[in-house]
Amino acid sequence: MKIAVLYGGISGEREVSLSSGKGIINALKQKGHDVIGIDFHPDHLEEIFNLQVDLVFIGLHGKFGEDGKLQGLLDMLHIPYVGSGVLASALAMDKAKAKQIFEMSHIPVAESKTYYVNDETEVQAIVEDINHTFETPFVVKPNQEGSTLGLSIIKDKKEVSNAVKKALNSDRKVLVEKFVRGRELTVPVIGPTGAEKALPIIEIIPKNEFYDYESKYAPGGSEHVVPAPINETLTKQIQEYAVLAHQVLGCKTYSRVDFILSEENIPVILEVNTLPGMTPTSLFPDSAKAVGISYEDMIERFVQLSK
Ligand code: DAL
Ligand code: MG
Repeated sequence: MKIAVLYGGISGEREVSLSSGKGIINALKQKGHDVIGIDFHPDHLEEIFNLQVDLVFIGLHGKFGEDGKLQGLLDMLHIPYVGSGVLASALAMDKAKAKQIFEMSHIPVAESKTYYVNDETEVQAIVEDINHTFETPFVVKPNQEGSTLGLSIIKDKKEVSNAVKKALNSDRKVLVEKFVRGRELTVPVIGPTGAEKALPIIEIIPKNEFYDYESKYAPGGSEHVVPAPINETLTKQIQEYAVLAHQVLGCKTYSRVDFILSEENIPVILEVNTLPGMTPTSLFPDSAKAVGISYEDMIERFVQLSK
């Protein structure tokens, strides 16, 4: 097939996407496809249209790639692409909206509140409300962002003002969540719509205090334990939640669902990633490998499911 791989882009996760893109391009070439890699900016749309490709593989993460906008443009150009469509992409990218849907589907979520910040003059009042509403520790993060960029874990209320300002660099909507102490888990989901399956759960043991940007992408920054050492009943429940989360957002072909397993053994969902990382340190490929699916076969499977 003639496939365009879009990678790089302009989001805060550009560096991650450069690495995902490289992996995806190599895998597709190994599988014998005619591959055109494009470090993507919106002004490339006409070029993609003119290339007359059979399929677009979106290797982008975050804004203008993972959030549904590009998917809408490709729909309008009648160009097929791998992965979730407009609605699921936009919902998954909006953590607060996605949480409302998870709650309606009885998937446990952390208590949270969102704040829309029009301008900096509102920050002080918002900080006061946050401090009044939440007990430490809690999390302040941009509503729409990835790779833990702009996220702060608040242990001292004096840190809230700076944390809100940091989150505002990514998004005008700030999400504040109760911090759930527990084990960091993630579950890849793959399959045709309505018949998706969960791959083995991965437990992430970060070298840093939590699974931050460095632990995610520095080689050796975290240890992945696959399958996560969790009893069979709980494993099944977490995998069911993952597939349900994928389905209730309306995701397509693949996604990766992040959880914290609380100290009370409750799997609390954090988010669904519709375009999860495909870098050498990424999680989805590690889980696939654990069930004998190589990186190349995994990418090819996404392609076959998108035809
Ligand atoms: N947002 C990054 C790419 C991930 O979830 O893997
Ligand atoms: Mg993410």
